[in-house]
Amino acid sequence: MRGRLPHTTRPGRRAAVEATEAYQLPRLLRLEPNLYAACFTLMKMVPARHILRRALADGRLDPGTVIVETTSGTFGLALAMQGVHLDRRVVLVSDPVIDERLHRRLVDLGATVLRVPASAGERPGGYQAARLELLARVREEYPATFCPEQYTNPDNPRSYAMVAEHILDTLGPVDCLVGPVGSGGSMCGTAAGLRASVPHCQAIGVDTFASVLFGQEDGPRELRGLGMGLMPGNLDHRVFDHVHWCTPFVAYTATRRLHQRHALFMGPTSGAAYLVARWFARRNPHARVVVMLPDEGYRYQDTVYDDAWLSAHEQAGVAVPEDPVVVDDPRTAPQPWATFAWGRRPLNEVIAPAPAGAPGR
Ligand SMILES: Cc1ncc(COP(=O)(O)O)c(C=O)c1O
Repeated sequence: MRGRLPHTTRPGRRAAVEATEAYQLPRLLRLEPNLYAACFTLMKMVPARHILRRALADGRLDPGTVIVETTSGTFGLALAMQGVHLDRRVVLVSDPVIDERLHRRLVDLGATVLRVPASAGERPGGYQAARLELLARVREEYPATFCPEQYTNPDNPRSYAMVAEHILDTLGPVDCLVGPVGSGGSMCGTAAGLRASVPHCQAIGVDTFASVLFGQEDGPRELRGLGMGLMPGNLDHRVFDHVHWCTPFVAYTATRRLHQRHALFMGPTSGAAYLVARWFARRNPHARVVVMLPDEGYRYQDTVYDDAWLSAHEQAGVAVPEDPVVVDDPRTAPQPWATFAWGRRPLNEVIAPAPAGAPGR
């Protein structure tokens, strides 16, 4: 039987909020004189809740409708939590590299988790293509399904208007927003909301090497949550003033520093964003900088927070540089940390297609 929350309301009183509502707004913490953290328990709750509530309101999520999505990350967790509160079945299509702790939690929340076979990784399009195929089959199986489509649904970025409002109400005008980029929803949506009041507010996106998001070629990536192999429709490149790329090891080291310096126990995408935000804040002491920290550290206790695991990492021993290397072409960005002045341009203005017959770069 699916769990239902006990009633917490008495007539005439404000209800105690559900966990999924309480999880939405970040805690805003001061890390340095001009550096603030927007610290989320589970950032993906923002778009998950917004998208599902809208679907509910306009009749796309009636009882009996199954919520389906392809995800192996925190968006699935947010959907599964919402499934409990809305009393809807959730079916998630994932792959063999899904984190086991997350998998157990999803199952405990009553979600069905389907995994494409490991052999799918060898096929063209890899897991991503195999997951989409399986999702299409799942949708045929049920009479009514609703798919939130976080990568293309404009309600993903739109949902962050409330985060921007919360930041502005609490901190006042913000000069720079820094955050990791996956679907693009959180950075594009929050930056748009901040710029409605502070048009000069800069947006700095943090990506990883071999991610296609900001013009690099697709390749093997270890960091999860930021960086992508396929371009998400929700990434509006024109939002970004600067882009940084960092290696997983640099992100892990920064994650530990965030914990050691500020007692903030967060995941590695938070560490990557913190690295960049701190660097920018120190170079721009008069700018008020906010950094997005999307999830907590519990899932990474056996990896990022384990000294033995970290020192056995293939990049262990690579010192974190004081500064990134500034490049004039994203395709030439060197590891372990590089930056490029994106200048709020569309992708095709930054990465001009190579003329036919030109030698490869
Ligand atoms: C832990 C974590 N950090 C960062 C991101 C990137 O956020 P967005 O998809 O809004 O770009 C994600 C996205 O799934 C994530 O799970």
